[in-house]
Formats: sequence, structure tokens, C-alpha cells
Amino acid sequence: MSAAPRKILVTSALPYANGSLHMGHLVEYIQTDVWVRFQKLCGHTCTYVCASDAHGTPIMIKARELGVSPEELTTRFSEEFVRDFDAFGVDFDNYHTTHSPENEALTVEMFEALRTAGDIYTKTIEQAYDEQEGMFLPDRFVRGTCPFCKTPDQYGDACENCSKTYTPADLIDPVSVISGTAPSTRESEHYFFKLSEYGDRLRAWMQAATLDKNAVAKLEEWFDAGLRDWDISRDAPYFGFRIPGTDDKYFYVWLDAPVGYPASFRNLCDRRDDLDFDEYWRPGNDTEVYHFIGKDIMYFHMLFWPAVLEGSGFRTPSSVFAHGFLTVNGLKMSKSRGTFIKARTYLDNLDPAYLRYYYAAKLGPSIEDIDLNLDDFVARVNSDLIGKLVNIASRCAGFINKRFDSQLAGSLPDEALFDEFADAADDIAGHFESREYSKAMRRIMALADKANRYIDDRKPWVMIKDESGLEDVQSVCTQGLNMFRSLMIYLTPVIPTVADGARAFLGEGEWRWNDAATPLLSATINKFKPLLTRVEAKQVQRMVEQSKDTHDAGADQQVDNAISINDGAESGMRVK
Ligand code: MSP
Ligand code: ZN
Repeated sequence: MSAAPRKILVTSALPYANGSLHMGHLVEYIQTDVWVRFQKLCGHTCTYVCASDAHGTPIMIKARELGVSPEELTTRFSEEFVRDFDAFGVDFDNYHTTHSPENEALTVEMFEALRTAGDIYTKTIEQAYDEQEGMFLPDRFVRGTCPFCKTPDQYGDACENCSKTYTPADLIDPVSVISGTAPSTRESEHYFFKLSEYGDRLRAWMQAATLDKNAVAKLEEWFDAGLRDWDISRDAPYFGFRIPGTDDKYFYVWLDAPVGYPASFRNLCDRRDDLDFDEYWRPGNDTEVYHFIGKDIMYFHMLFWPAVLEGSGFRTPSSVFAHGFLTVNGLKMSKSRGTFIKARTYLDNLDPAYLRYYYAAKLGPSIEDIDLNLDDFVARVNSDLIGKLVNIASRCAGFINKRFDSQLAGSLPDEALFDEFADAADDIAGHFESREYSKAMRRIMALADKANRYIDDRKPWVMIKDESGLEDVQSVCTQGLNMFRSLMIYLTPVIPTVADGARAFLGEGEWRWNDAATPLLSATINKFKPLLTRVEAKQVQRMVEQSKDTHDAGADQQVDNAISINDGAESGMRVK
């Protein structure tokens, strides 16, 4: 690995604070956390920040339904998120909220800079209006019959049956999903950002950011379709930041949401002398900034966000890494099937290390979807983590503990074999760096097979019966434990709690990636305790049972709505 330490800032997308975290979210937070832990293990300065996404119409409506303030609602969910993230070992350096003074100050600063640069203008538009509620309706809050194929109960922006796009006014018999009344159409003045003028700058950014080829293809598609100016304002009532100089206009949630990244970082900088905000967020510095996101929010992160940063005097991201969506047993998560599994329900039944490993074994750098197959999950975790990995240690530890007073031998009987494990470091590191986790896991498990074969061939349990072979048993087990140790160092970013257990067993302090290059010899180790137990299929079954919601017929529809909230008009991508 390169010698000079890098200064890296990493983010995951900010979860909407109006619903619990589920298995789908965890793909992203685990993917990011593994990458961050890997960078830290290599000795780089890597800072990982996140926050709750607190603004917007859906959150305002949900709070109203529950009879609480949006602040209360989002604080409650943020607290739940922090507990869940912590339990899954997702180790943020800072977790903040977009409803914060830091975020408001930065959002206003960016907006004013864009306005000064001539990139903001106002225009009067027509929008669906709920007379009873006294509020404008986002397209997704109007439903009715598709004007083209006549399928009933479609969103106000696009038909799920024929995929045609339209406006809420085009729907046949439209109703507001809030009041159930027919909406009217009203005019209102909105603020627009001149995204249309950023084509060249965004193309240049795209080249420099070395995005994944699928992402580049998507961007090319958007460039070809032509970049449209972006409506960045919403009318009161709205939960968000008021636009300076107005009484009743607010910044659209997707303007201030990504600003939550630098805002969370600023909040951290205020507590940390070693971090300098400008070094990471002003152009011309030797730092790196990466955003991990899901494929549904690429438009915001690869077009709007770099353009806003570029236009307002901030640095643009070094790259944006998009991942695919999670399916469970090959299908969309579903409440009726019990596969819409909340983070908390998983934690009530299973060890987070299993899921971290399973996702790592499945993840690559592309936007391809990944599948959590529950049978495969049980088989894979038991075979790889228990059968291959932990098994190396449990076969060697007993002899060292009982027969050699927990002392490792002073040299290795097969240095060439150890070197093979050490030499894999660069290859595995390369895979982590490029988010090819599945390749890293495959390489590590192939080495685990090799370690087990070595022990099978030597058979220390037979050797021990012959007094004259006693010393050889110590050597063979020292060799075995050192191979185990190298693999555990490589797996530290993926299964940190298991690695901690292994480190404590070997009696070592914090590991660095490079520690796998030198063997642990003549050391006194501790008594071996099982590091991880087998997953039982019945634990998984119970989790699925607990996730089943068969009474509520609308449950799956709600899930779909929650999943697709980023797709449509709320995104401001509608063809005008
Ligand atoms: N609040 C926005 C992000 C703002 S970032 C400035 C948002 N929130 S979210 O809660 O809907 O999603 C958070 C992240 O989780 C997103 O990157 C999203 O793609 C990801 N996932 C949510 N559901 C997912 C799956 N089912 N599968 C994989 N990732 C998913 O979007
Ligand atoms: Zn249709």
C-alpha cells in the first residue's frame, strides 16, 4: 500500500428520519463502514460522517399523523438509528441531523453564492393544491386514474402500469392522499437553479471522478436528454429552512440534504482540533471526499450536488460510489412474506457479524442489485466463518493452551507458507480499496482452506500422542494460529467484533494492516473462547415470523411507497 497517509472524508446517504432502518439500508452503511475501517487500518486519516435527513413533506405529514412536532419525530428516529448503527458496528465519527444550525448556515451560504453568480432565478409555476389542508401537494401526494392506460390509483407523476409520465392535473379523478379531496391547481413563485448551464462542468467532473461505468452510462443518458433547471423551493407549510428574504418559501429538502455532509463535518470540526473544515471542503486541497449512496439517488449526487458545490465555491466530491438495491430471496422486500426485516428485528435474533460478512461476500463496486438469500445466508456463514475461519483457531488453540502453557513457538516450520498469506495483503487491500469485497472474501476463504489443509496434513491430534513429536505440535499450531491471525487482520474491517476477540485471544494490541507481514512468535496467548457460534436456521425463521405483517393488506403498498419516494416528482426531475 502507498506509504503517505491520505486524508479522506467519507459519507453514507442520510437516512430519512421517519421510519426504521431495514436490511436494505444496511447494505449501504455496512459497505461504507467496511471501507472506512479498511482505510483506518491502513493508517490513513479517514473520517466518516452521516446525519438524519429531517426535512420535507413526508416527514411533516407523518409527524402530523402521529400528533408530534417534526423535530420530535426526527429526534426519536435519530436516537433509534444511533442505537441500531452502533449495534451493527457502523462506526461514524459523527452523526448529526440536517435540521441543524450548521446545515442552515451552509445551505444559505451556498444559495447566496449561487444567487450572486446569477445561477438562481424565480418563475411562477402551477401546482396541485389541497384546498382543505391549505397546502401545495407534491406529485406523489396526488393519486388518480392514468390518463393513458386508465389504470386506477396511480401517482401524480407517472403510471406504474404503462410507465408514461404526466402531471397531477392530467390524472382522471385525482385525489389528495392527505385529505382525500380533489385538488385544485394554484400558481406559486418558485426558485430555480440553472442546472442547464452546468453541462460542461459536470462532464469534466465526471471524467475526474472516475465513476463506475454504469454510473457514467446513466450520466450520459441524462446529458443526452438535456439538463433541466431545478426547482429548489417549496411553499409553506413545509418542514425545512426558510429562504432568506421570503415569508413562506422554503428550501426543497433535496437542496439541504447533501449539505448535511459538510454540515455534519463542520459540527465535528468544532469539537476536534485536528480537523479543518476548509481543508476538506474548499478547492485546491490534498484531501479526498467520497459519498456512498444507493442507485436511486444518483441524480442528486452526480448532477445537482456537484453543480451546487462547483457554483458556490466549494470543492466537488472525489467520487461517488453507488450500490444496487437489496432483494430478499430474490424478491423485493415484503411485509406479507416477512422479508421486510428491520435492523432491530435482525438484532433481536442474530449476530451482526453474520450480516456484515454476508454482505461483504456479495458486494462489488457496481450498481447491480444484491440478494440476501436466507438459506444461502445460513449455509455461507456456517461454512465460511465457522467451518473455515474459526475452525483454524479452535483446532490449534487447545494444544497451545494445555500442553505448552499458552506459549507460541519461536519460529515457524513453514515460512514459505506464511509468506503466501503475507503476500496476499496487497491483492486483498486492492480489492477493499476498489470495493470489490466479494473478491477479497473469496481470496481470504481460499487461504483459510489452505490453512485447514495444512493442519489436516500434519494432524497435531495424532502427533501429540508421541512424546518425541511434542515440539512439532507446538510448531504446527503456531503456524496454524499465525495463518488464522493474518486472515483475521484482513477481515478486521468486515467483522470487527470477531477480530477484537481474536486479538484478545492472541494477546495483542491494536492491529495495523501491515501486522500481517510479520508472524507472532514466542508470545503468550490467552485461553481460547469460541469467537462465533453457528447460525441456526430456526433463528432466521423466527426473524422472518417476527417481520410478518399479514393483517395489513396495505402494508406492502406502503413499503413500495417508502422505497420509491426518491423516484418521482419529489426528486424535482419531472419533465416540465
Ligand atoms: N434521505 C435520502 C438521502 C439523502 S442523502 C443527502 C434517502 N434516504 S433513505 O432513507 O431513503 O435511504 C438512505 C440510503 O439507503 C440511500 O442511499 C438508499 O439508496 C439506501 N437504501 C434504501 N433502501 C435500500 C434497499 N432496499 N437496498 C439498498 N439500499 C437501499 O434516500
Ligand atoms: Zn398508465
